[in-house]
Amino acid sequence: MIEKIERLRTEYSNASGSVTDLKQLEELRLKFLSRNGALQQLLEEMKSVPKEDKPLVGKELNILKKYIQDNFTSLKESLESQFASTASYLDLSLPGRQIEFGSKHLLTQTLDEIKKIFKGFGFSVADGPELESDFNNFTALNFPDDHPARDMQDTFFVNKNFVMRTHTSPVQVRLMQKQVPPIRSIMPGKVYRSEAISARSYCLFHQVEGLYVDKNVTFAELKGTLVSFARQFYATDLKYRFRPSFFPFTEPSAEMDITCYICQGNGCRVCKGSGWLEILGCGMVDPNVLRNVGYDPEQVSGYAFGMGIERTAMLKYGINDIRILFDNDIRFLRQF
Ligand code: DAH
Repeated sequence: MIEKIERLRTEYSNASGSVTDLKQLEELRLKFLSRNGALQQLLEEMKSVPKEDKPLVGKELNILKKYIQDNFTSLKESLESQFASTASYLDLSLPGRQIEFGSKHLLTQTLDEIKKIFKGFGFSVADGPELESDFNNFTALNFPDDHPARDMQDTFFVNKNFVMRTHTSPVQVRLMQKQVPPIRSIMPGKVYRSEAISARSYCLFHQVEGLYVDKNVTFAELKGTLVSFARQFYATDLKYRFRPSFFPFTEPSAEMDITCYICQGNGCRVCKGSGWLEILGCGMVDPNVLRNVGYDPEQVSGYAFGMGIERTAMLKYGINDIRILFDNDIRFLRQF
């Protein structure tokens, strides 16, 4: 009997040493620890052990039983913890990882909408460089030498002859220099101004310029085009007005206002109590500008307009701080 006990101990310890997964562990349990297992069979043989041998055999059997049970328990624990860490990789019930899609920035969306409307009117889209000659940015556009916009305070001068363009109007000059009328284009892009950054102004922003040059272009056409634009972009039933204004490159010049969408013209904080919001500048291309690009003002005339894209987006969506458009805060951008 003692021999059998030793044999089972060796058999068990060999078998348990080669167990590497839970399936093998279960096989080990069935073979040694189950109701019909080898240990139980040996325990049953106790009945036939002669009475005088019982104390010794019983003691040895108990030692074997404890050895097998303890060894099995620790083997089971270590395999289960190993299995649990693998299982967390393989948990098919976990929700999938969400892939976030980007979307267009509000400024891009606004520009896209502006482009779409003007394309519908037959305008093409053109562009020009952000680093511009002083001639195109100012001189050709009829800015006198002592005009305040030429001051260092407003303009980023790169050197004596080049500036970071302060508006998109120089693209008009470029277009007229290389094309013959008719020209009907909008010109979007970045512009730069050396201004203190605040809720209302930023050193960099975007504009869309518009230009139509042909025979007999009139102010009435300018108004018709811009009113149709504003009705499509802001509200179909809006009221508008054109106020006389001044720009060196247009004569006559005007600014276009629409009724404040917040207070419906009754006066509020956004429109500073006036009931009106200024949306763009415009006018008939000054004959001097036409001459500067080699056109004959007796033969052709044209209109031009320009609007800030930030300002346009801010007006449309009631945004009160321009800086938020440059922060790229996802909580803001997600709203559009
Ligand atoms: N360039 C002007 C600005 O930066 C905007 C502007 C006004 C453009 C009138 C035009 C125009 O073409 O006709 O404020």
